[in-house]
Amino acid sequence: MSNSTVPTRLRLLATGGTIAGAETSGRGYRAAALSIEALVAAVPQIAALAALDVEQVARIGSQDMDEGVWRKLAARAQSALDDPAIAGVVITHGTDTMEETGYFLNLVLKTSKPVVLVGAMRPATAISADGPMNLYNAVAVAAAPESAGRGVLVVANDEIHFAREVAKTNTTQVGTFKSPNRGLAGLIHNGRLHYFGPTVRRHTAASEFAPLSAADLPRVDIVYAHAGMGRELIDAAVRAGACGLVIAGVGDGNIPAAALAACTAATQAGVAVVRSSRTGGGLVERNIEVDDDAAGFVSAEELNPQKARVLLQLGLTRTGDPQRLQAIFQDY
Ligand code: SIN
Repeated sequence: MSNSTVPTRLRLLATGGTIAGAETSGRGYRAAALSIEALVAAVPQIAALAALDVEQVARIGSQDMDEGVWRKLAARAQSALDDPAIAGVVITHGTDTMEETGYFLNLVLKTSKPVVLVGAMRPATAISADGPMNLYNAVAVAAAPESAGRGVLVVANDEIHFAREVAKTNTTQVGTFKSPNRGLAGLIHNGRLHYFGPTVRRHTAASEFAPLSAADLPRVDIVYAHAGMGRELIDAAVRAGACGLVIAGVGDGNIPAAALAACTAATQAGVAVVRSSRTGGGLVERNIEVDDDAAGFVSAEELNPQKARVLLQLGLTRTGDPQRLQAIFQDY
């Protein structure tokens, strides 16, 4: 809540996910079963933090997030952020692909206002559902002036993460979100914020990809490396029309010899190849076991494969040159 008598006004954009999920008979549940109005009504304490304008943008499990929903979400968020009466945006979202949507928005929203993604691991009807507190905390983060200029944030389990850093690391536990390389943006306890530091890479107002252009995003596929990997899936992705490939490499982004040869052939055919790692942490450096300079590869730096895919899609709207793409991966 602001100091004036006018309450802080936020736009709440809903997309579905388990936070809006309801248990079914048996042991299952249906994501996105509940409306955003029902979620907000379950947390009346939010009214003391901010006034909310709510909008249901989609009603899906986040496994079905795609470019079309991203575009709609980015457009609705940008329109809210451009409104002087709106102080920030909260987005409810499934946890499965939240890190990708968060990073995408971090790159394409032209704003300094707070943008916060929030989800839950337990459906709204479960014993000890985590959604209500997560939603309350997300609204508190979005309403706080000190959240401005930090890029897109993810709030869950009393933690605040930078969208660039966060990854889902556990299939079911409420502490699933981790920021393995650079750590938390901060903590939040019962709506009280404690920030640890700023994020270092370019985002939102400083992003060259913001606001999002109308041009379609090029096709980028992720191929997962493993012991005994051959070249078939890489060749198949190129044949299917991929403009870019992200390899979820072993260890430091390494690729078995046959697949490496296919990747080199792909770059020679004009397909961008980015080496990331399947390990879930650390940095893929250039020219360690792979001669990136000779092969024309790009290193993903600390981006996991799914985030590297987002940046490569946007990067390819600007350039296909591996050196310029590498500079983009060092900037964002
Ligand atoms: C989803 O991502 O939509 C399902 C899982 C979740 O929200 O936790």
